[in-house]
Amino acid sequence: MMYVIWTAIAGIVAAILLYIDYLLNSMEEIDRMEFEAKLYLRPSIVQLLSNFNKSDIIRPKKVYRMIYDNGFELLLPSREWAVAAKEALTLDYKNDDIIVSSFPKSGTTWIQEITWLICNNADTVDAQKCSLLNRSPFLEMASLRNNSALGIQVLKKWPKNKQRLIKTHLPFETLPEAFQTGKCKVIYVARNPKDVCVSLYYFGIINAAVPHPGNWSTFLASYCSGEIIYGSWFSHVKEYWKKFQENKSWIYFTTYEDLTKDLRGQIISISKFLGKNLTDKQIDVIAEHCTFESMSKNKSTNYSHLTDRGSGFKNAKFMRKGKVGDWKNHFTLNENEAFDNLYEENMKDSGLDFKYEI
Ligand code: A3P
Repeated sequence: MMYVIWTAIAGIVAAILLYIDYLLNSMEEIDRMEFEAKLYLRPSIVQLLSNFNKSDIIRPKKVYRMIYDNGFELLLPSREWAVAAKEALTLDYKNDDIIVSSFPKSGTTWIQEITWLICNNADTVDAQKCSLLNRSPFLEMASLRNNSALGIQVLKKWPKNKQRLIKTHLPFETLPEAFQTGKCKVIYVARNPKDVCVSLYYFGIINAAVPHPGNWSTFLASYCSGEIIYGSWFSHVKEYWKKFQENKSWIYFTTYEDLTKDLRGQIISISKFLGKNLTDKQIDVIAEHCTFESMSKNKSTNYSHLTDRGSGFKNAKFMRKGKVGDWKNHFTLNENEAFDNLYEENMKDSGLDFKYEI
């Protein structure tokens, strides 16, 4: 009798899970992410659903603390990333290598695609043939199921005569020497820290390679204290900004908000910085190809090939909203005031001024 009851209960639970799974998969991506964010208030349900969705990446429970020989501490998704970051220091870099760097969720993919096109004669046909991960390897990335996409491995197989555009989120202090000394050019993109926090929060929900962000206020607290992947937004941005002011010939510093306001103008400035002469037509082609609408539909830039693997939920979108000011839908008045004070404390003498709406 007990056996029958337990079997019936298990059947009902499985049916409920199937139904929730069906509901989640039929929702618009944005709605689903918001829904999961609310569900996280009940961690056990989320855990159950995540297991049910059979993502075979096991989410790390906490970030990995890497300590460099000089004592610099860096928080990474896992030990494998630390091994890659260390190996990255030993690679050979060529004078024409370019590194695109940022704090995560600041518009890295956007600036990578722009820069790749600037360096490749605005060839949007070639750009669409190959995923950005393979056109612009992610230096310290590790542990995805598809090993061929791992940054260092892609770099090692790179054709000798072809220029390399490398992506990283490493803080300036931990970059390989070639990128700290001006041997190679560095392009840094920063984004206002409130939108970064929101974007990173949703990315954490869909990306099983990093610890789950928890609920919004828990994540905001971790973000403010720098206890998340890549550590403190403030330190990351401040150091690149300082180095940029000292070395404008080989470091280019821009912001997500400037890209949003004047994409064409930014394409022209980056081309000048890289010493590339583009025709007006090429600039137009790049600007058209790099709008949010166009990049979100483009399989080579929207990471749709990864989301099924990295996420517990199918079809979760890497290209989420692409807006300046989404923070207003998430920060409460108190959170906003506290964050403004924290910003003031950390950035008051930096001379940096971010736009929070456009
Ligand atoms: P949202 O989550 O706010 O939508 P990164 O590439 O550094 O991970 O940054 C990802 C963020 O940049 C996401 O922000 C994504 O939507 C946004 N993004 C990517 N390409 C963009 C584009 N062409 N225009 C505007 N935003 C873009």
